Amino acid sequence: MPALQLRNVRKTYQSGDSEIVALDHANLEVPDDEILALIGPSGSGKTTLLSIAGGLLSPSEGNVVVGGHDITEYSAKDLTRFRREEVGFVFQTVNLVPFLTARENIMVAAELAGRGSEKAARARADQLLEELGLARRADNLPAQLSGGERQRVAIGRALMNEPKLILVDEPTSALDTKLGNQVMELIVGEVKSRKTAAIIVTHDTRMVHYADRTVSITDGVLAA
Ligand SMILES: Nc1ncnc2c1ncn2[C@@H]1O[C@H](COP(=O)(O)OP(=O)(O)O)[C@@H](O)[C@H]1O
Ligand SMILES: [Mg+2]
Repeated sequence: MPALQLRNVRKTYQSGDSEIVALDHANLEVPDDEILALIGPSGSGKTTLLSIAGGLLSPSEGNVVVGGHDITEYSAKDLTRFRREEVGFVFQTVNLVPFLTARENIMVAAELAGRGSEKAARARADQLLEELGLARRADNLPAQLSGGERQRVAIGRALMNEPKLILVDEPTSALDTKLGNQVMELIVGEVKSRKTAAIIVTHDTRMVHYADRTVSITDGVLAA
């Protein structure tokens, strides 16, 4: 069962009188242990594709099948559960809760999904912090962390519920090359050790060697 299938997905946005085609009949299949790099220039439809794959946006046409379930048929309630429990997002702009510590920001994911005990969530968050090299930053607030550290907390949060599909939007765009490579190595290491599928969006061709496969996107059209 592939982790993700996009079947003839089209997404248009209305902008004044004109229609923007952000995704044009996209067909894509991501096996359950593959890391796919999605590469394309700014405005090519990368964030739109990720948002549709993760149930944050619904397609104008076509179907999105995640782990065998067609999420385009989900009710609003099912979609909320799906987003909280089955996908892990790392957004382009890291959106940590400013008044929660690094550990608490990671634990929130389990709380929202109504998963397990607080004790178990804390143990898992601490294990992730350790793996991400943040053990000593567990009690720090986001404002006390560097950009790269915040990015790593966001990765921990995305992994917290052990999702089958991880969606990462330009994780290195705000980082210098050295830090960008470190963050990519972390993501790839974590994803590979869990045998989870991931789509990593980037416009940086230097990052594609981290992926099993690369698909490019131009003006909403995918090409292998
Ligand atoms: N909410 C929106 N309303 C109107 N147009 C949008 C919206 N979101 C994205 N777009 C347009 O859709 C296209 C694809 O955007 P996006 O998926 O964000 O591309 P990328 O992530 O590759 O930069 C762009 O032309 C963008 O301006
Ligand atoms: Mg984008």
